[in-house]
Amino acid sequence: MINFENERFHLRNKFFSYVLEISRGKHLLHRYWGKSLREFRDSAPLQKIDRGFSGQLKDFENERTYSLDVLPQEYPVRGHTDFRIPAYSVELENGTNISELNYSSYKIFDGKPILKGLPASFGECQTLEIELVDAAKNFTVFLNYTIFEDVPILARSAKFLNTGGKKIKIQSAASAAIDFSDNDFEIINLYGGHAAERTIQRQKISRGIFEISSARGASSHQHSPFIALARPDATEFFGEVYAASLIYSGSFSAKVEAEQFGTTRLVVGLNPEVFSWTLEPQEEFQTPEVILNYSSSGLNGMSQAFHKFYREHLIRGKFKNQIRPILINNWEATYFDFNEEKIISLADCAKDLGLELLVLDDGWFGKRNDDNSSLGDWFVNTEKLPRGLKGLADEVHKRELKFGIWVEPEMTNFDSELYRAHPDWILHVPDYQPSCGRHQLVLDLSRADVREYILDAMRKIFSSAPIDYVKWDMNRHMTESFSAKLPAERQPETQHRYILGLYEIMEKLTAEFPDILFESCSGGGGRFDAGILYYMPQTWTSDNTDAVCRLSIQAGTGLAFPIISQGAHVSVTPNHQVGRVTPLQMRTFVAMAGTFGYELDITKMSDAEKSEVRNYVELYKEIRPTIQLGKFTRLLTGGNEYAWQFSDDKKIIVMYFKILSKPAEPIRILKLAGLDAEKLYTLKKYLPPKKLSVDGGPQKISFEEKSFYGDELMNFGIAVEKIETDFAAYMWIFEK
Ligand code: DGJ
Repeated sequence: MINFENERFHLRNKFFSYVLEISRGKHLLHRYWGKSLREFRDSAPLQKIDRGFSGQLKDFENERTYSLDVLPQEYPVRGHTDFRIPAYSVELENGTNISELNYSSYKIFDGKPILKGLPASFGECQTLEIELVDAAKNFTVFLNYTIFEDVPILARSAKFLNTGGKKIKIQSAASAAIDFSDNDFEIINLYGGHAAERTIQRQKISRGIFEISSARGASSHQHSPFIALARPDATEFFGEVYAASLIYSGSFSAKVEAEQFGTTRLVVGLNPEVFSWTLEPQEEFQTPEVILNYSSSGLNGMSQAFHKFYREHLIRGKFKNQIRPILINNWEATYFDFNEEKIISLADCAKDLGLELLVLDDGWFGKRNDDNSSLGDWFVNTEKLPRGLKGLADEVHKRELKFGIWVEPEMTNFDSELYRAHPDWILHVPDYQPSCGRHQLVLDLSRADVREYILDAMRKIFSSAPIDYVKWDMNRHMTESFSAKLPAERQPETQHRYILGLYEIMEKLTAEFPDILFESCSGGGGRFDAGILYYMPQTWTSDNTDAVCRLSIQAGTGLAFPIISQGAHVSVTPNHQVGRVTPLQMRTFVAMAGTFGYELDITKMSDAEKSEVRNYVELYKEIRPTIQLGKFTRLLTGGNEYAWQFSDDKKIIVMYFKILSKPAEPIRILKLAGLDAEKLYTLKKYLPPKKLSVDGGPQKISFEEKSFYGDELMNFGIAVEKIETDFAAYMWIFEK
């Protein structure tokens, strides 16, 4: 619900209120974001304080308490009297980047406008659009605020329109800026690297500017386009958290400034380091959308709101609310060394184990026997697959498994027919050598001819065989972000144009092949963001398949992204990334906390392991709807222990993991969350770890049929049986 009264806009649902104010008929101020208020009457008016060195615009020369330097603003500019980080900067033809945006008009309407060329949220909602006009009439900015009834989420974006007669250059354009009246916060962000994505970092805010960003042309393994400001007392279950997650897959920036008067400014959007955009008269520029999430119930409240929002208001298509097939991927089983016979042997074994989808990973095309060549040469290697993809897919289907393939359409290699024919199709700067990564070069997706080539190649492949699933990979970052097709002044547009080009391709292919389940990937989770989820409903979370590493990677990913979007597989031990040996039960339960699959040579498993796997697969099929479509709650996060709860109307599933066994451990009791206090919950299955930290023998699943009321499970909890073993994984399944 949005209303406008006394020069104030009040956006409100049962979870939160967000209040804006038009000040002196000109300035758009931020007044409140927090718990839902029945009415905003301004019980804490802005204080009028004459601050030294905080100047005034000429109109307010005699009003020394009215300075932009101290006012909380919605879309601030630098260069007048506000010296904090700006939300935008526009260079005019005379070389200045001073501008002044004044309130002009507003509209309130049901629904929300389409963000042309960009992924964005949708659903039943109401939007406030505020028009701000540059004082010298060079351009207009439309700020959009969309509120949904069923979630504590506000979606914001900005659109620039060149209304003058001359070119303007947008040097930076944030999706949103927010001024908080205090700085009593801790900053939470997700950092990492390849095979070590999304580690949770929480630190006290300190005076100065804190920034996370990517200039890599991808949202990146290094920083996720997510940031939260949590009250210091906020825990998993209690306290206030204000979070922002950007619906964008390229270079981004999120800055937090704790400034001189004890206030905090958050600015989130495209990364100005690698971006500018020239607007001709009457042209528009739309920023990506940012999702603002207010939680008064701690970090779990925040995560549950993101999960619900992304599942219901962002992910599209047939697979949106569909449980995902249990897969076998041949990458860690064979790498490039496979042929049709080998893949069919995996299919036979997968069928026997109860798996549902076979994915043929990298190496089936061109002359790709290692990672030196052939990206871009999208024709089947008939030495490996004499009957082509169709022949193999038919064999796989005969075994009643679905069939999927891997592609990496955005890249090429020096050693490829594509590169030899079109050396100017890659991102590169004339006269300088291009850089490669994993021997590969980035195709210039800002070019229409390159996009056409990719679309054509993918259409042919996807319709050449009955393909049910596609893994879309991207294995290096952008360097030499220069396009042979763009004029000099537009070169800083290259990275953003690339991402718009990528979205165009993904939009077309996912619409043309609605029955294909797409999984995005970028060397694991290098492009795990809300932008990609709009097109592809799941992402390979990390190239690291070690169960211990995955605990923190998946816990971090789950802070912002739903369980059903996280690709997770069981792999062999010693693990290929870190060499660790962990029990099959731990590897399995960790992978079950995602889309679940296998990525190892299952034909080489012992009979005992195979029978253990059959049990697990059967178990997962039973609990999969609750895990993938239910509510996820972190009961314990980090250190040596993790505990996760998945719940829906029928079942409660609790997983508990302990990495190392230690002497003198305290007793661990897990208090469950969000149950119905008056309902009885029956423990149907209890799977403790085996004592030994090595695999062996089939897992005995012990049953214990006992019923407890929800209030007891939430307040007294369930005791974790002490079992002396490293890498311990437990599961309890309750039925309501
Ligand atoms: C990186 C991916 O993350 C892996 O799973 C695998 O598909 C390789 N690329 C193949 O080159």
